[in-house]
Amino acid sequence: MTVILWALIGYLLGSVPFGIVITRALGLGDLRQIGSGNIGATNVLRTGHKGAALATLLLDSGKGAIAVLLARWLGGEDAALIAGAAAFLGHLYPVWLGFKGGKGVATFLGTLLALDWRLGLTACAIWLVMALVMRISSLSALVAAALSPFIALWLDGWPLALTAGFMAVLIFIRHRANIERIMAGTEPKIGKKG
Ligand code: G3P
Repeated sequence: MTVILWALIGYLLGSVPFGIVITRALGLGDLRQIGSGNIGATNVLRTGHKGAALATLLLDSGKGAIAVLLARWLGGEDAALIAGAAAFLGHLYPVWLGFKGGKGVATFLGTLLALDWRLGLTACAIWLVMALVMRISSLSALVAAALSPFIALWLDGWPLALTAGFMAVLIFIRHRANIERIMAGTEPKIGKKG
């Protein structure tokens, strides 16, 4: 019963599409018709509004972190893992958008930060270094996602490694179009429309 409760609370927190909410509130247009059409911070940045992109990044990552911290506080470590994974799923498949959500990178990073700040910080650092060197958001996210389960296994053990691995697989599935563009050399650099 508590498993279902934490999954539901995590899902509902994760399902709030902050990119859509913020761009609509600021009158920046329909995010689905801009750039990649994704609801994440990378695509919000393509509207040209850096503050909106930063707010989306912080809120999309924050909702994953809050789900984990709330569940850990009230239900313990297993509840935290379930709520974090559920928040991530909520971002990918939000009921409010007909289950067509985002690619999960910010929520993944926020969830990892709250599950183990060392893992979260390492994943953020990998994203940042890749982004500074390659200037491609999706590629940075894919590298951070691919390495995170192994870092989790080294730092914590199987429960966190499997949770990170589950999210990483979904991130790769969600980035199929990005991967094709990366291979073709047509994936836009950060902040560019295409
Ligand atoms: O956070 C999503 C990012 O990895 C890719 O976003 O809009 O370039 O598909 P986008």
